[in-house]
Amino acid sequence: MDQGPVSPHVLIFPFPAQGHVNSMLKLAELLSVAGLHVTFLNSDYNQHRLLLHTDIQTRFSRYPGFRFQTISDGLTTDHPRTGERVMDLFEGLKATAKPIFRELMISRGQGSDTRPPVSCIIADGIMSFTIDIANEVGIPIISFRTISASSFWAYFSALKLIESGELPLKGNDMDQLVTSIPGMEGFLRKRDLPSLIRVSNLDDEGLLLVMKETQQTPRAHALILNTFEDLEGPILDQIRNHCPKTYTIGPIHAHLETRLASESTTSQSSNSLWQEDRSCIAWLDHQPSKSVIYVSFGSMAVITRKQLIEFCYGLVNSGSRFLWVIRKDSHAEEDGEHQTPAELLKGAKERSYIVEWAPQEEVLAHPAVGGFLTHSGWNSTLESIWAGVPMICWPYFADQQINSRFVSHVWKLGSDMKDTCDRHIVENMVRDLMEQRKDELLKAADMMATRARKSVSEGGSSYCNLSSLIEEIRLMGA
Ligand code: UDX
Repeated sequence: MDQGPVSPHVLIFPFPAQGHVNSMLKLAELLSVAGLHVTFLNSDYNQHRLLLHTDIQTRFSRYPGFRFQTISDGLTTDHPRTGERVMDLFEGLKATAKPIFRELMISRGQGSDTRPPVSCIIADGIMSFTIDIANEVGIPIISFRTISASSFWAYFSALKLIESGELPLKGNDMDQLVTSIPGMEGFLRKRDLPSLIRVSNLDDEGLLLVMKETQQTPRAHALILNTFEDLEGPILDQIRNHCPKTYTIGPIHAHLETRLASESTTSQSSNSLWQEDRSCIAWLDHQPSKSVIYVSFGSMAVITRKQLIEFCYGLVNSGSRFLWVIRKDSHAEEDGEHQTPAELLKGAKERSYIVEWAPQEEVLAHPAVGGFLTHSGWNSTLESIWAGVPMICWPYFADQQINSRFVSHVWKLGSDMKDTCDRHIVENMVRDLMEQRKDELLKAADMMATRARKSVSEGGSSYCNLSSLIEEIRLMGA
């Protein structure tokens, strides 16, 4: 990437959760590679974890214009930051981070160092208070949504769903097709709406929050989405009617892989808030090609003990080899249940491996991995698409319910088991993915991976959009 003038200074501010920090930090690295000054505003809590579990400081020390800065997320250190408590994070940010961010932007991020003033903000689009503040102090702001274009469009269309009477949900209408989201007619059921808007009460705080936040996006100067044109083109056309300057630059992690690979630096760039257990790579090295199903429900899902047991049985009975990420905080302990997952999986000791956190991108790229049982978080979905790995989707919350419908019914890259958790279904779906439809699904996944590669290669849509974005940021600093 050519090094332009050094005056532009971008402040990047993610919502403080793994999926958001991961993709926005990757964008920060890409902008640093391009020679821009970048400040990454991380929550104190996540910064501590990032420093503890990664070599991030060494990695970013090669970019003289890069700085981390921290801000409180408003919660105490021992407060749970799982999906169940995500609203607390929104509250905490508004009460604590918002006024600090405002002060920071009034001073244009100028502290004791001699860097130029902040000339552009890239903030998580789920924190629209950043748009209010940026517009108030006169700094151009670009919204970054870490979700798919389809999820964004569904949130954006929530008001239409209400006006047409499709929301709130009534009685037993989960399998009814949705008709008032342009571009999704004919395949999207109410069941597939993101969980935050899949509600039977219009006073639901998640619905109100996500609707309000998403409606604010057109007030930003531009929108960045971590997706690519070949994947979500028709939906992007709809979004551009409202947000004409929408930069699709995904898969972001892939850019980094391809752009840094041409330099003499490592392309492994972990942004993990948990310690990656690399022993699973050694285990995968001993497994036959495409024989392992990788199981992970991301960074925020919390499953019940009963669900954990259904997955255990389903996976064991499928006969497949599997690598399973079970975070310490991912399942509730219930009275009377004392068996650990390791004990429950005794019957499959030879063909299973459990870790608390994995180097996921590397796992998905490993030749032994032939399938992914995923919660359909957007980063995980894109990482799987990039690696050409078919998926079984078990969406947990937020955008994941709609991602899984696109994976199974639009892109045909796997199957969707949303709203069920039964050992027989798990077993059958794993057999289907890893045996019966293995060749067909691998072929489809491979074709989509090729399209993703094309998009980030020189001349591809995401490649060109990233270059235009960088150019536009440079002009803002001129
Ligand atoms: C949630 C949303 O569902 C997601 O769509 C949104 O964009 C952010 O918030 P999360 O549960 O974190 O995300 O899932 P996902 O978006 O898939 O991100 C998880 C990230 O953690 C991925 O980048 C994945 O590679 C990484 N990960 C996960 C690991 O590195 N190791 C693991 O063991 C598990």
